[in-house]
Amino acid sequence: MAEASESVLTKTDECSDDECGSTESPRSVMDVLQELLLSKLRLGDSEEKPIQVLDEVNFDGVVRYMASDKCKNIIVMVGAGISTCAGIPDFRSPDSGIYANLQKYNLPNPMAIFEINYFKENPSPFFQLAKEIYPGKYKPTVCHYFLRLLYEKKKLLRLYTQNVDTLEILAGLPADKVVDAHGTFHTSHCINPACRKLYTLDWMREKIFSDEVPSCTECQDTVKPDIVFFGERLPERFFVSAEEDFPICDLLIIIGTSLSVQPFAGLVDNAPAKTPRFLINKEKVGQSMYPIVLGPGLQFDSETNYRDVMWEGLCDDGCQALADALGWGEELKKLVEDEHSRIDQERQQ
Ligand code: OAD
Ligand code: ZN
Repeated sequence: MAEASESVLTKTDECSDDECGSTESPRSVMDVLQELLLSKLRLGDSEEKPIQVLDEVNFDGVVRYMASDKCKNIIVMVGAGISTCAGIPDFRSPDSGIYANLQKYNLPNPMAIFEINYFKENPSPFFQLAKEIYPGKYKPTVCHYFLRLLYEKKKLLRLYTQNVDTLEILAGLPADKVVDAHGTFHTSHCINPACRKLYTLDWMREKIFSDEVPSCTECQDTVKPDIVFFGERLPERFFVSAEEDFPICDLLIIIGTSLSVQPFAGLVDNAPAKTPRFLINKEKVGQSMYPIVLGPGLQFDSETNYRDVMWEGLCDDGCQALADALGWGEELKKLVEDEHSRIDQERQQ
């Protein structure tokens, strides 16, 4: 099943033998399972009844909360859906998504194009696709500029993005506000563990556009952009920031992602129990199929839902609706207009 195989986006082995080096007696598998169950079900401690922060669990309730002083630290989690309006395909949309359009590469399965083991054997399909979807010719969307407004209004604690199109930065968000959960095109490395030579974006771009599989000048192994493939560990900053940010998150906004790739998707369960969660997406996502293993996920349809709200539709429309309701609507429209004409002018030069 797709979701299960995708959960290997990070090394499954979080704690190797030499890292742990514990002198304590080993715990049995049953002990570990029991601990996991208790923590997921939140049993075994005196968990209080969750506090409902929203005065109404709907769009208006989210807007009133966002406008209040209580909502200071907003975390936003985004995926490919926020960039489809810029012309960049997402991954899993049935007809237009990247995975539905890879027949020409004769892959064993669509996701193989981003699997590290497949890449080591056959890097060429990835580089052909990279040329097609190379960042550089696209403009940030209304949604990206809404995120910039959130930052300017001092409400954005952090943006966690799965995207590697760099449109968040182009939209004017400072790098320290953005966590590139699935890496970046900005740097590349030789995949040979004994070498790991670093290469620049310009070097990689030149190779990609000359239809060459980039090979290392030191050891002739393949050079790969530092985007995270299935089977690779996410950047350290993802784990460090998540641990610091989520405990103080007042509102979690999730936009344009199928929430089907771990460990990113699991972040929704890292927000404190009282923190409202607001999804803007074309379809309902994030309801966990494996609550005990992966966490309970979003609870829109639960009778006891006290914090999860969904706005169904396009990311840009949802962000504009939110901006309108917050009284920022005209500011957002002007920002988009001004920034798009600035980018157009710069690109003409
Ligand atoms: P997906 O393609 O899995 O999900 C995109 C989600 O956005 C879907 O739920 C779409 O319905 C929705 N969507 C698309 N366009 C939209 C729009 N204009 N407005 C509203 N919703 C829209 O993309 P991700 O969740 O980002 O990893 O995928 C996660 C990871 O899987 C990616 O980072 C990538 C991929 O394999 C790697 O390549 C390593
Ligand atoms: Zn090398």
